[in-house]
Amino acid sequence: MRYGHFDDEQREYVITRPDTPLPWINYLGSEDFFALLSNTAGGYAFYRDAKLRRLIRYRYNNAPLDVGGRFLYVRDDDDGDYWNPGWQPTQRELDSYTCRHGLGYTVIAGGRGGIRTETLYLVPPGETAEVWRVRVTNDRPVPARLSLFGAVEFCLWDAQDDATNFQRNLSTGEVHVEDGVVYHLTEYRERRDHFAWFACSAPVQGFETSREAFLGPYRGWDRPLAVEGGAMTGSIAHGWQPVGALQTALVLEPGESRDVTFILGYTENPADRKYDPPGSSRPNTSRARAVIDRYRHAGQADQDLAAVRAAWTERLGYLQVVTGDPHVDRMVNTWNPYQCMVTFNLSRSASMFESGIGRGMGFRDSNQDLLGLVHVIPDRARGRILDIAATQLPDGGAYHQYQPLTKRGNNDIGSGFNDDPAWLVLAVAAYLKETGDLTILDEPVAWDNAEGSETPLHDHLRRCIDFTLKRLGPHGLPLIGRADWNDCLNLNVFSEQPGESFQTAPNRPGGVAESVFIAGLFVLAAREAAAIARLRGEEAEADRCRAAAEAMTASIEAHGWDGAWYRRAYDHVGRLVGSASNDEGQIYIEPQGLMAMAGVGLADGRTQTAIASVRERLATPHGIVLHQPAYATYHLELGEISSYPPGYKENAGIFCHTNPWLMIAEAITGNGDGALDYYLRINPSAREAISDIHRCEPYVYAQMIAGRDAPTHGEAKNSWLTGTAAWNMVAISQWILGIRPEHDGLRVEPVIPASWAGFRATRLFRGTTYDIEVVRWSGGDPATQVIVDGSPIEGSRIPLPEPGTPRVRVEVRLS
Ligand code: BGC
Ligand code: NOJ
Repeated sequence: MRYGHFDDEQREYVITRPDTPLPWINYLGSEDFFALLSNTAGGYAFYRDAKLRRLIRYRYNNAPLDVGGRFLYVRDDDDGDYWNPGWQPTQRELDSYTCRHGLGYTVIAGGRGGIRTETLYLVPPGETAEVWRVRVTNDRPVPARLSLFGAVEFCLWDAQDDATNFQRNLSTGEVHVEDGVVYHLTEYRERRDHFAWFACSAPVQGFETSREAFLGPYRGWDRPLAVEGGAMTGSIAHGWQPVGALQTALVLEPGESRDVTFILGYTENPADRKYDPPGSSRPNTSRARAVIDRYRHAGQADQDLAAVRAAWTERLGYLQVVTGDPHVDRMVNTWNPYQCMVTFNLSRSASMFESGIGRGMGFRDSNQDLLGLVHVIPDRARGRILDIAATQLPDGGAYHQYQPLTKRGNNDIGSGFNDDPAWLVLAVAAYLKETGDLTILDEPVAWDNAEGSETPLHDHLRRCIDFTLKRLGPHGLPLIGRADWNDCLNLNVFSEQPGESFQTAPNRPGGVAESVFIAGLFVLAAREAAAIARLRGEEAEADRCRAAAEAMTASIEAHGWDGAWYRRAYDHVGRLVGSASNDEGQIYIEPQGLMAMAGVGLADGRTQTAIASVRERLATPHGIVLHQPAYATYHLELGEISSYPPGYKENAGIFCHTNPWLMIAEAITGNGDGALDYYLRINPSAREAISDIHRCEPYVYAQMIAGRDAPTHGEAKNSWLTGTAAWNMVAISQWILGIRPEHDGLRVEPVIPASWAGFRATRLFRGTTYDIEVVRWSGGDPATQVIVDGSPIEGSRIPLPEPGTPRVRVEVRLS
């Protein structure tokens, strides 16, 4: 069953009924100000950091779901009827409803009783505000007297404190109202030099700033007293829950349309210009007023929309494909890069599942997020790599996350994940292959952000390699530490305390738990590091890395192979994990794909055997599960992985992030059918028709789909912020379509399914557009041929053209 459809031309997903299985959301903003917006206008907004600078409140486990966000009420002042054009929270029946989620904007349209409302939501480029441009049309044969009410519930900045510290925060709330604009001033009197504000482009008939005054005692947002009665009292909040609620009246002739814009903004003032005049208690509102004034002009929001759309057209221009498969084309051309951008911006911090409180920018996560979109925003990727590297610890290790506002690392969600450093090498390699910009390696980068500790970035890479080499266990495999990619494989934690965090509980000392996964990751990273060193002419370092990769490969061959697949780990006391000798968790997906990517086991056929084992034991119609059999009971020696009910999350869920590794492995071993098959199993567009089972958005990947052991097999959870986005982009574009940046040129080496006749693509790479046409070739030559501007080349890597060459024509004749 579907709840909408793709509009590929407009690059929109059109939701046609409001009661989607879960809130289906969009992200507005991509620089400093971000807003999450559901198809019923729920969600929240923040400046840079979802935890520390939250503008409006959102309650995650509310009933009904997704009440909270942008409250927009239309009231018929003739008969007192009122409704929300986005359906929530009144849920009054609508005669028409659509929500169009586009790239960086959303339009929600709803009609009732001959009054149509279409609201465009966006964050204007360069602005720290979200704009709701409401267009109201009277389709009645008679004039309509209406009131529009726009409202937001302010968060008292620190979202954690706002939801917990009631001793303090019931008393701190402060507002200021001036010219119909509500300024949210909590803590402005002391150490903050920023405030939020809520304004309307049209004259305001009334306002409330006290939630109780707007809603009425013991009432909810579904029947606010002020809207019901049609009048506001002009309340001023003193503590409790400050809101911004504005009323504006409209009289519309038959057929007439009018635009009214509400704006939720964030403004910072220089510390010495906080008040106007200085020394008074009146906040300096000049910056906010300048923004508001711009939106008094009709057409400003349309201009913003054009700018947002144009920016996306430019970004997406880096890679466009025509394969004939709509699920491939729309994901590769539009939605997958879009999701990659959101994950790049927010890592795992803020979604409908990530409260924005617990997690900042993940070290492992942010490095991987880069892989999917270096080509789209190379400059920002450069800056991000330097930010991440600056949080690295002097021993080469990493904090598991850092806060975006401060850029400082912390151990709030644990530390000592021994895979972390290797991902930095992969991110830098991806950046270099895309851009050829070797200067980044010489950038001075601090250690643990300590001023004066800077050494060049290439030194950070060296220490990433050293970090693993200094932490090897008895089998010559890397010690796992807290965990590796699988945060829940906690082989050293042994937690027996109910509720104790597996991520932060102390590790039991003295163990020898080793990770075969990190071993494979290390081989991949060490090879990349060797190639990077060679680019810099550092042969000794290149040889060292290559030798380390070979030694690790030997350890994997000796101790990582189980007979039909790669093992997962050795536990605290050296027992096998992920082996046929185990009762549960015999085979894990992670090492099987990764070994192929690292080039381990290709020559001796082990990788091919491992891939076959995955297909036989782990693949389901909804994707590939993490391991089998699932853990039926809690295993003290394995940790959080066994704490989940079977089939969910890390306990044999379909953790989508890992599936592209198998797609890549299939492609590396030449199986285009197998690769695309896996690709389509988790592709959200391909799952659109089963939206009532899948439940999450059909336009973005989810972190997890319930595995075959789960009663709700096929149900997705935790959409949007997942490494799945980046890895699927890599798998489909670089390995299946085979358009792969390398240090010395673009390789085009497709591994496509037998049923495809070919495909076309354009790829912008280092300033040159490659027009690529892939065809099946039955005439003559049995080997695949790559023809560049009419001349066949050796192999599939296209030598870099003269700088400034605008276009290169590439024809690939697949044998
Ligand atoms: C989740 C993981 C997550 C980890 C760290 C665990 O509870 O299952 O998916 O990576 O927490 O935040
Ligand atoms: C989610 C985390 O963000 C990611 O870093 C981790 O690899 C996966 N969970 C698997 O545990």
